[in-house]
Amino acid sequence: MREAEPAGRKQSLVSHESRVPSHDSRVPSHDSRVPSRESRIPNQRITNMKILGISGSPRKKGNTETLLDAALKKAAGAEIKKIIISDLNISPCREEEYSEVSERGFSIVNDDMSVIFDAVTECDAIIIASPIFFGSLSAQMKTMIDRFQCVWISKNIQKKDVYPKRLKGAFLCASASRRQDFFDNASSIIKHFFATINAEYKEELFCPGLDTKGSVKNHPECLKAAGDIGERLARG
Ligand SMILES: Cc1cc2nc3c(=O)[nH]c(=O)nc-3n(C[C@H](O)[C@H](O)[C@H](O)COP(=O)(O)O)c2cc1C
Repeated sequence: MREAEPAGRKQSLVSHESRVPSHDSRVPSHDSRVPSRESRIPNQRITNMKILGISGSPRKKGNTETLLDAALKKAAGAEIKKIIISDLNISPCREEEYSEVSERGFSIVNDDMSVIFDAVTECDAIIIASPIFFGSLSAQMKTMIDRFQCVWISKNIQKKDVYPKRLKGAFLCASASRRQDFFDNASSIIKHFFATINAEYKEELFCPGLDTKGSVKNHPECLKAAGDIGERLARG
């Protein structure tokens, strides 16, 4: 684990698996349960922090979601909301012209993006969790981020403050390989996204060497680091 950059804690965890698992050994999820489109996880003590966690993995209860859950579980006292993008109906960006951006600065396309636009409005901190897919974010996560182009237009062209609150942001990422350049690709997109929604890129956690579903559970150091991030965000 390393710490760098005083602006926040950045961590890269190297798994203790001696073998770098091959891409082909991925095990498909057979979990057919349909989870709720968004869920609230109860907490005992209420602080005034509202933390939003968004998972971009299509694999239910996979490594990404497990990391996110570990972070949210330790966000003691905060009000938390979790969104699994693949549970929502979100269509890809269709490059709205400026006039097609809604009065509030959001996309006019009528789909579940409204759930995410509103959740970002309400939160004080945001945790984005994604697996590495072909050297970058998952398609689900990238599709969601592209739909924030209307917010980018509102902010940078129309000079509208769609998200006036300064949020705290964290990025959790799981991959099978140990390619730092893949994590760098993914984090650079998240940094650009965070700038668009006025979130400070405060924390990052890169967990390499995780391939099969649930393999993160064999890496308590990853879960602990994710929990520590949740704890720090909850403190405000
Ligand atoms: C479509 C797809 C593409 C992937 N591409 C990469 C990749 O480029 N590099 C890598 O290290 N792992 C890659 N993986 C492996 C995942 O990053 C890894 O299995 C991760 O732990 C999945 O997290 P999840 O369980 O939350 O879905 C890929 C997996 C899939 C399904």
